[in-house]
Order: sequence, then C-alpha cells, then structure tokens
Amino acid sequence: MATFMLALLACLAVLCTTVLGDRIVNITILESATDQGAVCLDGSPPAYYLDRGFDTGISNWIIFLQGGGWCDSIPDCQGRATMDIGSSKHMTKQTHFAGILHNTPQENPVLELVDFYNWNRVWVNYCDGSSFTGDVEQVDPENNLFFRGARIFKAVLEDLRSKGMQYAKNAILSGTSAGGLATILNCDKFKSLLPNDAIVKCVANAGFFINVKTISGTSNIQTTYHRVVTLHGSAKNLPPSCTSTMEPSLCFFPQHVVPYVETPLFIINSAYDAWQINNTLVPANLDPRHVWEHCKAQISSCTFSQRIVIQVFGVEFLRAFEGLNPCYTRGYFITSCHTHEQIVVTNYWFSATSPNILNKAIAEAVGDWYFDRVGFHQHIDPYPSARDC
Ligand SMILES: *[C@@H]1O[C@H](CO)[C@@H](O)[C@H](O)[C@H]1NC(C)=O
Ligand SMILES: *[C@@H]1O[C@H](CO)[C@@H](O)[C@H](O)[C@H]1NC(C)=O
Repeated sequence: MATFMLALLACLAVLCTTVLGDRIVNITILESATDQGAVCLDGSPPAYYLDRGFDTGISNWIIFLQGGGWCDSIPDCQGRATMDIGSSKHMTKQTHFAGILHNTPQENPVLELVDFYNWNRVWVNYCDGSSFTGDVEQVDPENNLFFRGARIFKAVLEDLRSKGMQYAKNAILSGTSAGGLATILNCDKFKSLLPNDAIVKCVANAGFFINVKTISGTSNIQTTYHRVVTLHGSAKNLPPSCTSTMEPSLCFFPQHVVPYVETPLFIINSAYDAWQINNTLVPANLDPRHVWEHCKAQISSCTFSQRIVIQVFGVEFLRAFEGLNPCYTRGYFITSCHTHEQIVVTNYWFSATSPNILNKAIAEAVGDWYFDRVGFHQHIDPYPSARDC
C-alpha cells in the first residue's frame, strides 16, 4: 500500500505533470471545403484540430472558435493573408490543448457526473477576419482576397457532422475574443446543425465587445464593425431577427444581438476587459505620447484620472449588460479582473489561481450551468472596481 502511495505521489510529482501538461493534437486541413469556396483570406483551405472523445464523452462535442481581432480594410486583410490568422499555409501542424479543451479530469474537472474532458474537442482555426460571418462571392483580381468566414463555419461543421457530430447528444459552441463574438453570432446556426434532441449551448469568452466611445468621444468600434460587416458582406449571415430591426452592423454588438439568440448562452467576460480598454476606449492613435502605456499594462500603475476613466468604462459595460432582456437560461461570469484571458488556458479556466466568484471558478460555473446542477447561473464579481488579477 505504502509503495503504491509512493509510486502515485512520484507520478503526480513528475510523470503526470508532463503527461497532463502536453496534449498535442494534429491539424486537419479541410481541402474539400475549397469546392464550396469555403476558404481563408488567401484562398487556402480552412483547418481545425480535433481530439476524439472517449468513454462516456464519445457522443459529446465541444467546438472552440479561435479569436484574433478582425480586418476591416483591404491592406489590413492582406497583412493577415500572410499569417496563420489568414492562411492555413502558415498554421502550426500541431497544437496543445489546455483549459476547457484539456483531456484529463485533473485540469478539466469531473464534478458530479461528467464534464468536458472526455468529449470530442475541436479547435477551429480563425483565418477569415470577420468572426466567421463573411460571404462575398466575387474575388477582386487586384488583391485576390476571399471573404468567406460564414462558409468556413458551415463547411467545418458539416465535416464534423460527418465525423460523428450528426449523432451528438451534447454540444457546446465556444470561443474567445473575436471567437467569443463568433460564438454569439453563430450560436443559433450551430444549434440548427445538431440533432433536435441534443442539448446544445454556447459559451462566449471575452467576446462581449460593447459599443462605447473612445476617450475623445469618437465612435471607433462602431465604425470598425461597420467596415467589417461591409467589407465581408456579413449582414446576411447575422441573426435576421436582429438585422430586421436595426442597422445590420449594430447586430455585431452582443448588447444588441444577444436578446435575439434563442439557444442558451453563457457569457464569460471582464467588465474591465483589457483588449477593449486598449483598443475601444484608448486606441493607440489617441495616445501619441504613450501616457496610457503603463496603465494599460497594469491597473496599479494608472493615475487617479485614468482609473476614473476605466471605472466609467466598467459602469458602461455593466449597463450594456443589464440592458439585456432577462433570460433564465443565460449564464454570466463577469469578473473585475483587468484581463482578456482565454478559457483554453488552464490557469484561467480552472486552477488554484483562476478567477473566483463566490468560491466558484469558471469551469465550475459553466459545468453547473450546462448540466443544470444548480439553479443560479448569473455571477457578477462583487469587487467594485478594476484590479490586476
Ligand atoms: C500526428 O502527426 C505526427 C507527425 O506527423 C504523427 O507521428 C502522429 O502519429 C500523429 N498523431 C495522430 C494522433 O494522428
Ligand atoms: C494592453 O496594452 C498593454 C500595454 O501596451 C499590454 O501590456 C497588454 O498586453 C495589452 N493587453 C491586451 C489584451 O491587448
């Protein structure tokens, strides 16, 4: 018995950490998608990483959409076309799965029945620059760019259906940042591609980009979204119930579109999201002398007046949030941490140091919500201002 315990401890200390830390998954390049014109910005086929489910998770699927901002102009998209976020020619052949995509219960907890570690887990590469919403038939020979994000979403999911997802019993669409926004925008579409009796839900991480003005009072993010939607022909792929009631590019904002999403949705975000503070509130061109640099990196380095500006942003964020229609199937995990973190990072998703609201980590809150284990799913950090976590 003692020898067994020692062996187990040794394993936990050395062997297991290496094994647990490294789940390496190979890329699948979906060559056949080019027949449907479902291609990255440069015309190369889309790609994903799939790690098969096992044991009780064999009929369950979690699809994670990668993030990485958007491109809203030809030169901007051309720049991406030479990188992994615009071309499968530049994607890595293998990747590491962690956080919500991890394949062991130690990092991806089994709480009562099952959680996600033994599900089929898929990371979908982002290479369209429109949060998987674009669809423009013509290709301008001047630049050879393809705007086909919505086609990629459809082609990848059709392929996964043929690999077993058509018989799914449980399914989650998730994603971070631009992928978190893509999760919201494509949530009902995802549901429609799964069996009627499957339990289908969506988990959007760091994708609640609010429509707020910059420190100079200009509407930069609204302009950016308008340009993205126009360039990529996204309007027809946004939820029609939203676009029929307002200017389509406004439906790119979660605060406007979420009330029209019918599938249960869980939103994980910081009220002081670091990307939004860096880009929506204080874009670099409005800070030519870099007086915001230290504050952007660390809240404790902000001046008193900068802290007030950030505090007001948080108030705007919560106001946008509270303006949503009440909905009992919706779950929230809204932190006060000044971050823009990903649930595919174990330290954020579930660890001793991950954000906690009333003693619950994100993994526990999402699991409880997905499996209806408890009745309450709307967690808002009671800490009253932005902080470094
Ligand atoms: C992943 O690719 C490597 C190198 O091409 C190969 O040796 C390995 O068997 C592949 N793994 C799986 C699970 O297909
Ligand atoms: C925000 O900007 C700061 C300062 O440049 C940088 O350290 C930080 O990584 C940025 N965060 C995000 C999420 O863009």
